[in-house]
Amino acid sequence: MQDSETIDHVDDTPIARAAMAAVAAAGRAGEGLPRPASTRVIVVANQKGGVGKTTTTVNLAAALAMHGLRVLVVDLDPQGNASTALGIDHHADVPSIYDVLVEGKPLADVVQPVRDVEGLFCVPATIDLAGAEIELVSLVARESRLQRAITAYEQPLDYILIDCPPSLGLLTVNALVAGQEVLIPIQCEYYALEGLGQLLRNVELVRAHLNPTLHVSTILLTMYDARTRLAAQVAEEVRTHFADQVLNTAIPRSVRISEAPSYGQTVLTYDPGSTGALSYLEAGRELALRAAGLATDGFAAPAVGQQRNSAAAPMAQHGSTMEDNR
Ligand SMILES: Nc1ncnc2c1ncn2[C@@H]1O[C@H](COP(=O)(O)OP(=O)(O)O)[C@@H](O)[C@H]1O
Ligand SMILES: [Mg+2]
Repeated sequence: MQDSETIDHVDDTPIARAAMAAVAAAGRAGEGLPRPASTRVIVVANQKGGVGKTTTTVNLAAALAMHGLRVLVVDLDPQGNASTALGIDHHADVPSIYDVLVEGKPLADVVQPVRDVEGLFCVPATIDLAGAEIELVSLVARESRLQRAITAYEQPLDYILIDCPPSLGLLTVNALVAGQEVLIPIQCEYYALEGLGQLLRNVELVRAHLNPTLHVSTILLTMYDARTRLAAQVAEEVRTHFADQVLNTAIPRSVRISEAPSYGQTVLTYDPGSTGALSYLEAGRELALRAAGLATDGFAAPAVGQQRNSAAAPMAQHGSTMEDNR
């Protein structure tokens, strides 16, 4: 599908577009995806809260696993939302990422398999992790403790997705040192790009001093509501700034996506036929195929403005709110 065709459909016929996408994605859901030559460690980061980091981490991870890959989610947020969404017990006594970071426990001792999704595993976060930000300060190699744990973990994995807290503290720095790639979810909302400059500077700092392989490989537009001009404007602005990184697939705002965590499920198992499930399946496919140098068409892609503007700026000129879209 051409971008120019897509924008014509964005505001006019969202149902037709969703139906087309469902047909396209459903036909591919069971197909295998290329295995990366070595484990891709992807840091899902954005210091803004509520932009879809956790939702993206768990659903992309499930999508990749359902395409036949072996995937580990590392929950690095003391709130433990990724653990909850994957149905993983994370009450205070459960061995967790805290034990790995602060006590030096091997990752293998805290990994749990995810029910219902073969090939998907999770390292849970418990409330203990809230103290880790401070406890890490006085520890040896405080920035690279997660990286060391991952390097020492010998199980064959295709992907590790790290769900970061909404801050740029030592937990996020540990993730940035451990990963090669950063995936930034951007909510198609007012002030979408606010604070992004700070995240990008931190990525640069970590790359310069601690991890030369680190780069922003992927940007995913989340909570996209085709009925609003604002979402299309935000999407266009993001695509203008980050033409090479933005996935063609945008994740629609979907009630099913927001309901799934309360059942301890990803949207892929909670409602496999929903547009939310299909969009994450397609995003996962795109993530895997892009890295393998294979083209994808994606879906729900608003059109692209090609000229590059100056650095990321708040979307202050736009204002509206979006309602849920079933
Ligand atoms: N595509 C979506 N459609 C509807 N609700 C969503 C979508 N993505 C995320 N949400 C909801 O938005 C809230 C914030 O998402 P979350 O992934 O927890 O963000 P973060 O991890 O960045 O704080 C959650 O309640 C989540 O269920
Ligand atoms: Mg979160």
